[in-house]
Amino acid sequence: MHIDPLEKKWAYAAVGIAGLFVGIILIDALFHGINAPSNVETIDSASLHLSEEFDEDNLGVQVDESGTITIRMVAGRYGFYPKHITVPADTSLTFRWVSMDVLHGVHMPMTNMSTMIVPGYVAQVTTTLPKPGEYPLLCNEYCGIGHDHMWSNVSVVAKEHWTAPGKAPSKGGQDND
Ligand code: CUA
Repeated sequence: MHIDPLEKKWAYAAVGIAGLFVGIILIDALFHGINAPSNVETIDSASLHLSEEFDEDNLGVQVDESGTITIRMVAGRYGFYPKHITVPADTSLTFRWVSMDVLHGVHMPMTNMSTMIVPGYVAQVTTTLPKPGEYPLLCNEYCGIGHDHMWSNVSVVAKEHWTAPGKAPSKGGQDND
């Protein structure tokens, strides 16, 4: 079969570019630990309020006995609930997101907090937010008329100024409960 030399050049160029992209993805995945969130955990989106974990009282920031910080949030048209959370900077945070209606996305500008929130699944992201400040949480998947107004606020405060919710600020004494 005759292939025009010019066409052959372009074919090599196209295969080369595809190979380059695959190479970049592999390097990121294997050496930089950059992977798509892939936590496969299902949940019934229609009865979140009845589920123990995503009951209204359990939403927001929680610290368990081992000191792990988990943030549970519900996305729904049009907002992320609770509407405002305060988290410590430079600390490992595990976000657990669920949708109560349609597909949403959540993105926190200037950080790597970004994931899709697919109804029926729990989207989990563990990350560290290095810089204190006020950040918005924005929806980045078109979800309806109010999509542009779907946002909430996150205050990232310096580790030493953050107190776990539900605990009184300790006054220097040991607090082992
Ligand atoms: Cu939610 Cu767009």
